[in-house]
Amino acid sequence: YKRVTTKSLVDMKKNGEKIAMLTSYDFSMAKIVDSAGIDVILVGDSASNVMAGHETTLPITLDQMIYHASSVVRAINRALVVVDLPFGSYQSDPKEALRSSIRIMKESGAHAVKLEGGKEIKESLKRILHAGIPVMGHLGLTPQSIYKFGTYTVRAKEEAEAEQLKSDARLLEKLGCFAVVLEKVPAKLAKEVAESISIPVIGIGAGNGVDGQVLVVHDMLGMTHEFNPRFLRRYTDLYSEMTKAFESYRDDVKSRDFPADDEQY
Ligand code: KIV
Ligand code: NA
Repeated sequence: YKRVTTKSLVDMKKNGEKIAMLTSYDFSMAKIVDSAGIDVILVGDSASNVMAGHETTLPITLDQMIYHASSVVRAINRALVVVDLPFGSYQSDPKEALRSSIRIMKESGAHAVKLEGGKEIKESLKRILHAGIPVMGHLGLTPQSIYKFGTYTVRAKEEAEAEQLKSDARLLEKLGCFAVVLEKVPAKLAKEVAESISIPVIGIGAGNGVDGQVLVVHDMLGMTHEFNPRFLRRYTDLYSEMTKAFESYRDDVKSRDFPADDEQY
């Protein structure tokens, strides 16, 4: 396998090849995602929701993110592994942001970090990038700020927020980020941003005019059937498939069908 690098992602944008990105939080899932040829694996702080059952991404800790990330890194041969800096591990000051990033890189073996925000975290981004750690930005609906927004609806529909987002995207490019995630913003705005900067824009709920797409792996597998945003395309119905398997196993145990003669020693 030829490994995906931050440079190959920028080259993919230049050559017009779309970037496919999915989340993973554990070894078994990451192995399948990597083998399928997904370019980037995000160890997202969505682990807080999907793995731990919290309502928001805020409670997950740096230690927990490192545990998830190191499990993912052990599984991959090709994909670039990007890890979210969790809420509270980078907002207080640039030194803390760098220390948290260094811990992720050293203790998990991941290849890059992702931080939510634009100009308000400029000094932190500079420090991390100066240390040689690749950074992916994240603008638009940034879930760590959900209590500021008060709603999970589309961001940057108004002119002022759209202008701020465009200027933040240009800032991330100028500082040296290798890519930026745009979450839940109008497709027209996302396309404009992607066309205005040279680094790849990876969208989630940001339309088809960007340079790549990302989804939460449990969502696209249909395991989270109570979560139904418009942007989510489900590629299978694992919730039903798994339920069927568990029910069959239960029935087989209860009826003494399992284990059969050739399934014992
Ligand atoms: O944590 C996450 O899964 C993310 C993606 C939705 C971009 O940040
Ligand atoms: Na995230």
